[in-house]
Amino acid sequence: MRRKLAAGNWKMNGTSAALSELEALADAHTTASVDVLICPPAPLLHRAAEIVKKSAVTVGGQDCHAATSGAHTGDASGEMLKDAGATSVILGHSERRTDHNETDVVVCSKAEAAIAAGLTAIVCLGESLQQRETGVTLEIIGTQLAESVPNDATGDTLVIAYEPIWAIGTGKVPTLEQIGEVHTFLRTQLVARFGGETGSAIRLLYGGSVKPGNAAEIFAVENVDGALVGGASLKVADFSPIIAAL
Ligand code: G3H
Repeated sequence: MRRKLAAGNWKMNGTSAALSELEALADAHTTASVDVLICPPAPLLHRAAEIVKKSAVTVGGQDCHAATSGAHTGDASGEMLKDAGATSVILGHSERRTDHNETDVVVCSKAEAAIAAGLTAIVCLGESLQQRETGVTLEIIGTQLAESVPNDATGDTLVIAYEPIWAIGTGKVPTLEQIGEVHTFLRTQLVARFGGETGSAIRLLYGGSVKPGNAAEIFAVENVDGALVGGASLKVADFSPIIAAL
């Protein structure tokens, strides 16, 4: 039985004032029957970890470097995120693939480094609108999955987030059938590659315009084990009902 996961990606939003939202979230989730994760901007990570430490909420990073240390100005390693209190790190988000030209190979190296540092790698993949409209979604997703995910991944160290690029921050959501088709495809591919036990244990999140009003129906789709939430994770008033829908 896979444990459900509600992961919030604050992206480049929030200064210290935003930590009051995290305090409220932690207060509301001293225990939880599902996993709750917030990935704040890197400068807030250490303070965020202190805030949640007596709650069921955990915190994570939004990216890490593939190297453990060295001359990489502006970057942080998995070890550094772990040291700051992170349990997980988002990797290969479409915004990083676009803004920083991250390829599947780069994402895979980062995931290997994150896992070696003791973090859970949340590897993101998803098709563009043009790819969806030209009918190559599963081909694109299959390639991203094959090339972005390291061979030593397990159900404890890897989470996959399916995020159609055209659904991120747009208010557009795929149909439940479209979400189900991709998640079933991902599950089949994972079982084929990692075997039944590991392939069935890796959690699959949906991400892209998840809101309190659509969370329950998305979570009811087979092989959807939770969500990677952007905008609606910034306020407890929005994120709590999404957690409750799991
Ligand atoms: O990482 C989160 C996703 O990009 C989804 O963002 O919920 O604002 O559409 P969104």
